[in-house]
Amino acid sequence: MRGIILSGGSGTRLRPLTKITSKQLLPIYNRPMIYYPLNTLIKAGIKEILIIVSPERAGDYLNLLGSGRQFGVKFTYEIQDKPEGLAQAFIIGENFIDDENVAMVLGDNIFADDFSKDINNFKSGAKIFAKKVSDPKRFGVVKFDENMKAQEIVEKPQEYLSDYAVTGLYIYDSKVVDIAKNLKPSDRGELEITDINNHYLKNDKLSVAKVEGEWLDAGTFDSLFTAQKLAKEKLNDKLVI
Ligand code: TTP
Repeated sequence: MRGIILSGGSGTRLRPLTKITSKQLLPIYNRPMIYYPLNTLIKAGIKEILIIVSPERAGDYLNLLGSGRQFGVKFTYEIQDKPEGLAQAFIIGENFIDDENVAMVLGDNIFADDFSKDINNFKSGAKIFAKKVSDPKRFGVVKFDENMKAQEIVEKPQEYLSDYAVTGLYIYDSKVVDIAKNLKPSDRGELEITDINNHYLKNDKLSVAKVEGEWLDAGTFDSLFTAQKLAKEKLNDKLVI
């Protein structure tokens, strides 16, 4: 299994903080934000990790993270020229993924759960992780039937669909590269990971697990604030990096 951390984007909701640095390098208590998603992958035993960054901030990432040797892993870096969507990661990462399975985590997503079993037991298809939230409109949302089987996934639904948000950890087989290459940009001009997930869902190859522990997307001031507290009180003594 290969790992990808997607750590580009514009971070407009965290301005002015993100005028001078990348969102995912901002501090969460005593570590840069990206350490938390990195920890999620490294804890699961992933040794080869691609870090995708924006051109303006690439040097900062290299300075901070280097080769990965200090963490016992190997980092590769790629630039995303423009934030054209989460699914673009699999086009940028084509050579890196090669014929392997891949687990991608977003650079601003903080999980308390340990995903080692999900990552190590994954064989093929796709696996995503959903969490009940109070503001589903902000996320990709998954609707389940009475047997808790996923029926459909909708990006930022305007009408109520379900309370389950799709979180920023995704596991795919290497077919994801061709699926991403065949996507068309959405109305907001992005290659949508929701379209990848719906592709697997239609082919009956998508499994959706629930996230048991805390999950935060630290992209707003309130969630950043909550993340600081969570990190200090609960997460930090379990980190491996
Ligand atoms: P978002 O939080 O949706 O976008 P953003 O980081 O640009 O922030 P804002 O909406 O405040 O402007 O992105 C989720 C994560 O994915 C985040 O870690 C940034 C990353 N990302 C990329 O690396 N490339 C992209 O093309 C997009 C859309 C997001």
